[in-house]
Amino acid sequence: MTKQISYTYPNKLKNQCSYSLISGDCIKNLKNIDNKSVHLILTDPPYNLGQFMHNRNTNLKKMRENQFAYAGWDNLPYNEWVKDMDMFFEESSRILIKGGSLLIFMSIIKVESIIALAEKNGFYYKTTGIWHKTNPMPRNMNLHFVNSTEAWIYFTIGTNTGTFNNDGKLIHDFFETSLTTQSEKRHGKHPTQKPIKLIDKLVGLLSNENDIVVDPFMGSGTTGVSCKKLKRKFIGIDQNKEYVEMAKKRIDEII
Ligand SMILES: C[S@@+](CC[C@H](N)C(=O)[O-])C[C@H]1O[C@@H](n2cnc3c(N)ncnc32)[C@H](O)[C@@H]1O
Repeated sequence: MTKQISYTYPNKLKNQCSYSLISGDCIKNLKNIDNKSVHLILTDPPYNLGQFMHNRNTNLKKMRENQFAYAGWDNLPYNEWVKDMDMFFEESSRILIKGGSLLIFMSIIKVESIIALAEKNGFYYKTTGIWHKTNPMPRNMNLHFVNSTEAWIYFTIGTNTGTFNNDGKLIHDFFETSLTTQSEKRHGKHPTQKPIKLIDKLVGLLSNENDIVVDPFMGSGTTGVSCKKLKRKFIGIDQNKEYVEMAKKRIDEII
């Protein structure tokens, strides 16, 4: 069994935010977080598309190393994935404060399953939105539509409104950015790393300075990078130690 790693960044100065990065299964580790202590959960779990991609026999051989369907963390049969996501929502509903928010990225074909699981665990469904990638991989562009979108789903708990820092501006349920740049990947590659620009917007809108933000499926730590930039406290969990090391390097370099 590989040893779990955990990094904490204690408050050295008054008001300096703290970070905790943990390697291990998120369901187990969420159990160590106090009841009603978290303001925002912002996360990007497996989309349960691995088996679908394998069954499609898509011509991905050339890009296997850097393709999520071959990364080994999205291979569960649908029923097992549903059980895991159910436990994730159960723990999330326990740790969030009343009026806390949860935003989860998801494949568009799984949105309905996620809303049903969240509502079963007491969440109030607010919005389904889209992230549009302006420069998607032009894979098989002469055969079918190029995949350039992912969904995100936004919930609150205990109340039907949460923190929403729109500063009086209209916020569309549609965010557009380019793919994650190579310079954001300088500490290592993660096949589904989200762009900082996208996560900055969401962290800024849905939480306040000094709030506690949790990402139980943190991957390369993009949510943690935004939290440090925007002065939120952060707890990140990933089952893969290499991704936790990568997240640590990325967060450490933010001043
Ligand atoms: C879609 S990726 C997240 C990518 C992240 N948003 C980023 O910007 O790098 C999902 C992550 O969940 C992790 N994961 C999958 N199942 C997990 C579990 N049960 N507990 C903890 N982490 C898990 C995988 O290792 C993977 O890094």
